[in-house]
Amino acid sequence: MPTRLPLLVAVLLILGVAPLRGRGGKVATEVLAPDFSASYLLFIDTVGVFLASRSGAFHAVVHNPGGQQDRFYLAVLHAPSKTCVWVANRAAPITDRAAPLQLTAAGLSVEDPNGTAIWSTPPLGVPVAALRLDDRGNLALLDARNATLWQSFDRPTDTIVSSQRLPAGAFLASAASESDLSEGAYQLNVTAADVVLTWMGSMYWRLSNDGSSTMDRGGTVAYMAVNGTGLYLLAADGGVIIQVSLPAAELRIVKLGYDGKLQISSFASANSSTAPMDGGFAAPSDGCALPLSCGPLGLCTPKGCTCPPMFAASHDGGCAPSDGSAPLSVASCGGAGDASSLPVSYLSLGNGVAYYANKLAPPTLAGDNISSCQALCTSNCSCLGYFYDDSSLSCYLVTHQLGSFMSANSINGSDSDKLGYIKVQSLQQSSNLIAILLPTIVAFVLIVVICAIVITLWRKEGRRRSSRSRDLQLRRQRSPSDSAHLVRDIDDDSDDIVIPGLPTRFTHDEIEDMTNGFRIKIGAGGFGSVYKGELPDGSQVAVKKIEGVGMQGKREFCTEIAVIGNIHHINLVRLRGFCTEGQRRLLVYEYMNRGSLDRSLFRPAGPLLEWKERMDVAVGAARGLAYLHFGCDQRIIHCDVKPENILLADGGQVKIADFGLAKLLTPEQSGLFTTMRGTRGYLAPEWLSNAAITDRTDVYSFGMVLLELVRGRKNRSEHVSGGEASNNSSGSSSRGARSDYFPLAALEGHEAGEYAELADQRLQGRVVAKEVERVVRVALCCLHEDPTLRPSMAVVAGMLEGTMELREPRVDLLGFLRFYGRGFSGPVDGGGSDMNLKHMGASPGDRSGTTTLTTMSGWPSYMSSTQLSGPR
Ligand SMILES: *[C@@H]1O[C@H](CO)[C@@H](O)[C@H](O)[C@H]1NC(C)=O
Ligand SMILES: *[C@@H]1O[C@H](CO)[C@@H](O)[C@H](O)[C@H]1NC(C)=O
Ligand SMILES: *[C@@H]1O[C@H](CO)[C@@H](O)[C@H](O)[C@H]1NC(C)=O
Ligand SMILES: *[C@@H]1O[C@H](CO)[C@@H](O)[C@H](O)[C@H]1NC(C)=O
Ligand SMILES: *[C@@H]1O[C@H](CO)[C@@H](O)[C@H](O)[C@H]1NC(C)=O
Ligand SMILES: *[C@@H]1O[C@H](CO)[C@@H](O)[C@H](O)[C@H]1NC(C)=O
Ligand SMILES: *[C@@H]1O[C@H](CO)[C@@H](O)[C@H](O)[C@H]1NC(C)=O
Ligand SMILES: *[C@@H]1O[C@H](CO)[C@@H](O)[C@H](O)[C@H]1NC(C)=O
Repeated sequence: MPTRLPLLVAVLLILGVAPLRGRGGKVATEVLAPDFSASYLLFIDTVGVFLASRSGAFHAVVHNPGGQQDRFYLAVLHAPSKTCVWVANRAAPITDRAAPLQLTAAGLSVEDPNGTAIWSTPPLGVPVAALRLDDRGNLALLDARNATLWQSFDRPTDTIVSSQRLPAGAFLASAASESDLSEGAYQLNVTAADVVLTWMGSMYWRLSNDGSSTMDRGGTVAYMAVNGTGLYLLAADGGVIIQVSLPAAELRIVKLGYDGKLQISSFASANSSTAPMDGGFAAPSDGCALPLSCGPLGLCTPKGCTCPPMFAASHDGGCAPSDGSAPLSVASCGGAGDASSLPVSYLSLGNGVAYYANKLAPPTLAGDNISSCQALCTSNCSCLGYFYDDSSLSCYLVTHQLGSFMSANSINGSDSDKLGYIKVQSLQQSSNLIAILLPTIVAFVLIVVICAIVITLWRKEGRRRSSRSRDLQLRRQRSPSDSAHLVRDIDDDSDDIVIPGLPTRFTHDEIEDMTNGFRIKIGAGGFGSVYKGELPDGSQVAVKKIEGVGMQGKREFCTEIAVIGNIHHINLVRLRGFCTEGQRRLLVYEYMNRGSLDRSLFRPAGPLLEWKERMDVAVGAARGLAYLHFGCDQRIIHCDVKPENILLADGGQVKIADFGLAKLLTPEQSGLFTTMRGTRGYLAPEWLSNAAITDRTDVYSFGMVLLELVRGRKNRSEHVSGGEASNNSSGSSSRGARSDYFPLAALEGHEAGEYAELADQRLQGRVVAKEVERVVRVALCCLHEDPTLRPSMAVVAGMLEGTMELREPRVDLLGFLRFYGRGFSGPVDGGGSDMNLKHMGASPGDRSGTTTLTTMSGWPSYMSSTQLSGPR
């Protein structure tokens, strides 16, 4: 090629590098010039390595993962750890170890022995002068002026390294297996607000929900990056939106493994051959949360893999129904027309079985009964099974493919009360059935006999044990996490109990020190006063001194504290520690410097809360509540959602406070929740009827908060103080002041399709009209009188974020607002003692935690339920 020769010579002169051609397989450093070719065979002495970066940290290589003789890839490896950080031809491996990859002026290409190109760089327009592998791990084609024509950093496969950016909209796809680097089923997507991991279309992890992530501010994500201090989601201006802080390291490699686990390995120096440092990060942190942790239909438990009851291990590494029926697959759906018309039946997964995909996805159907859920699955050929949540009436269909299940008590964030069913092809012949059942019956009889013997022996043994050690045993079983540190209760009224998972325990003297003798009081809530303090490490805290409230015994208190202390979410206030000495009970929380939402929102003077901030508050608070409802081991109903319990801090932080405290109260005291001053405007109608209190009760209160965010004032304009009847200074009676009741104005605005006027007048139009409409409509859906027809908090959060379709508020379920709006103000005077909630938490010993509150009674007889629900 005579035309290329002068160019080649020029390049070689400029670069001062001798061409390193195949024979002898000498490894080049940093740059290679065309024309060059390499094959695995040619570089067999260096195991395929043909180019090293300057420091030797990275190698360009004809890679032969797993030593298989028919799969070779052009790849970049991190040399010390042999981690593959980039692959060129993942979809089409080179099948012959003698087949060369070529570097020419046209670019890089890989050919099959018969000469067909199986991979190449795109047409570049400008002749290539060099191939360079730099010390960051970036493989680039350069032109004669060293400008980059193409680089591997722009086409990530399953890995990114420090200084590489993964832009929003881009994704990483896992490899299929250790030796097959073609695209597998797991994906990591960077979205406009988050990073999510998905398998076959269903999400199994997202960064904003991970316990180790913190949200720094709102905004649109431009890219994901990892560096010496952690993993970041950054805005276009470089501002941090979400981060995971990690111990200092020079190089990090973020890799989506072929098992679906996202792993970050850290290296003290890029070319060090030492093992990866500690401080690695893995997501999801719980192996059972991986979609195929135990194979299809397997059951992942803390002790390992098993099968759900009625299922047995199958040859594919997962489980299959033990009655011989066959679970359906999507494949049996589209193609064979007859398969979909065969009768199907459903196989129960038994109690306590959860599915990873239900944790993060909104329900397919909400508010309907289980038969509608099953009917929906039956009617849809691509539905493979369903989960139904009894308490929230949510229906989750499983489509695409069935993964592993988790035992509900083994994971953070399961919904233990979900019922799961797998769609199966009905059994064809009853003779089959008998053949299968007979051994089962025989085995069953045997087991019963053995159990009877064992139980008899165990009982005898049991009587010998002291009751105290039994007590200990029970306690251990309830422990939320083994890894958490142990705190020994050494108080006199304790009986040497050990409760794992407790946050830091402080003595009263330490608390006095940190608060400077309770000098700075920053608030007073339903439970007592709040003081500002500082921990020895310099971090600021808010100390809540619980007073004037009858508390549970110390042991129950500690058990609840262990639960609250283990709840971590960026939108929930973190419990840093506690103190219990004698009758004193104090809680130490992280400090939120802007105080509660009502201060910023309702203040007559001072800077306004701008619309953007209000949207961030709405979304943040919704996410926090959704996590309480669906994300924790024990479902937690807040019971007191109101602006006073939404805290703000600089950097756009929004956190829910005071969650989980309902359970700290003695049953006699829990009535305080309903009578706490100023709270009544947020109480759902069902507090007054005998209907169960569910997570939808919080949804109602949240709807009221949303409307207040829109308007910037209390829903009812007069100020009610101390739970007494209103005596507003402006003199206008609330009676007949129809428009004073903002929820009604919002309903009327919705009916008229006019939302703009509902927004806070003080903002003088600095609002996004579409968002005002969205918030008002979501709020109205939250206020539906029938709790089962309110959306769940997860759906509310999705609608507010704009990631879920907006629902239409049902005017027929909002008629009660007109009644309130007519200005009714009944004989609702305070007197907390009048009102008692009978059961907060079934009993102190009951840790099932599914329903915090069930029934209530003891309302003064002269108040009808409608009277009481009159908002204040
Ligand atoms: C690592 O790289 C630095 C320069 O970046 C070099 O000085 C050092 O010798 C290298 N160490 C090894 C073990 O290659
Ligand atoms: C080249 O060989 C591969 C397998 O090695 C084969 O799949 C492909 O069809 C062949 N192409 C041509 C043009 O023969
Ligand atoms: C291109 O980069 C190499 C080393 O990276 C350098 O030696 C050379 O001078 C550069 N050429 C130009 C034209 O900048
Ligand atoms: C992730 O990105 C891929 C490729 O763009 C896309 O097919 C997939 O639907 C995305 N998944 C999610 C959950 O956004
Ligand atoms: C890593 O990136 C973040 C966000 O851009 C930045 O704040 C931090 O200083 C960086 N750390 C290092 C060690 O460069
Ligand atoms: C549960 O969550 C906590 C904190 O988020 C974590 O430390 C713990 O390892 C998790 N447990 C499991 C089993 O994932
Ligand atoms: C379930 O709901 C459907 C309508 O949504 C109704 O027709 C059916 O009777 C209900 N079934 C039960 C068992 O309540
Ligand atoms: C079946 O369900 C899937 C997933 O929910 C949905 O995309 C599809 O449209 C449904 N098909 C029918 C016929 O309803």
